Amino acid sequence: MEKSKGLDRRRFIKMAALAAGGAAFGGRISFAGAQQTAGKPESPIYPALNNKAEKASSQGLPPLPYAENALEPVISAKTLGFHYGKHHKGYVGNLKKLVAGTEFEDLSLEKIITRTAGKADKTAIFNNAAQTWNHTFYWRSLKPKGGGEPPAVLKRKIEASFGSLDACKKALAAAAMMQFGSGWVWLVLDSGNLKVVKTGNADVPMTAGVKPLLTIDVWEHAYYLDYQNRRADYVAAVLDKLINWDFAAGNLS
Ligand SMILES: [Fe+2]
Repeated sequence: MEKSKGLDRRRFIKMAALAAGGAAFGGRISFAGAQQTAGKPESPIYPALNNKAEKASSQGLPPLPYAENALEPVISAKTLGFHYGKHHKGYVGNLKKLVAGTEFEDLSLEKIITRTAGKADKTAIFNNAAQTWNHTFYWRSLKPKGGGEPPAVLKRKIEASFGSLDACKKALAAAAMMQFGSGWVWLVLDSGNLKVVKTGNADVPMTAGVKPLLTIDVWEHAYYLDYQNRRADYVAAVLDKLINWDFAAGNLS
């Protein structure tokens, strides 16, 4: 158990370091196990998130932080309506059914995620809990009239880790294209450094002990109605016009 925990952590760091350097990286980051939280606080990143993404602590469906048409023309109201009203809501509903009457029923979303990650008999609960959390975090990673320059405190860290804001955006875009199939691209804080990582399906970076600052959903349902198979165009538009650097900066502390 301890050995696999160390391997997972080292593999994550290796992949993340490649991304921080702006290099292409492949393979699926695997967070194979809630055991990765052993020896640490159960939710090492959540005290900070509780202030900035407090709704993510809920098992319920928090309201969107903006109107469904507020992200147009980059993300249409139709896409956002389906994404939030069908997909996100669906994960919330599935989770509610799955945890009813179980030890997870009254736990925060974060505790459900960390306690079910990597457990084969809890895969359905993990997937729906993580997807619920990921989507709430994603909505807050975007904003109308986003993009542009990050707050100074974040920009300094971006430049220290990537060399420039443009290099950071290129790393995020490259990771989005390298993610095979469904998944997520993240800007994370790991031991004081910013890194770009990607996760497959519902996987989340916090089970490896790093703090997510923002994310971009690269599941096809996030962009297919507007961009069909042009994931690169969707990600580029999000980074230029919607990404919420203020949210990411707020998650630094
Ligand atoms: Fe999604």
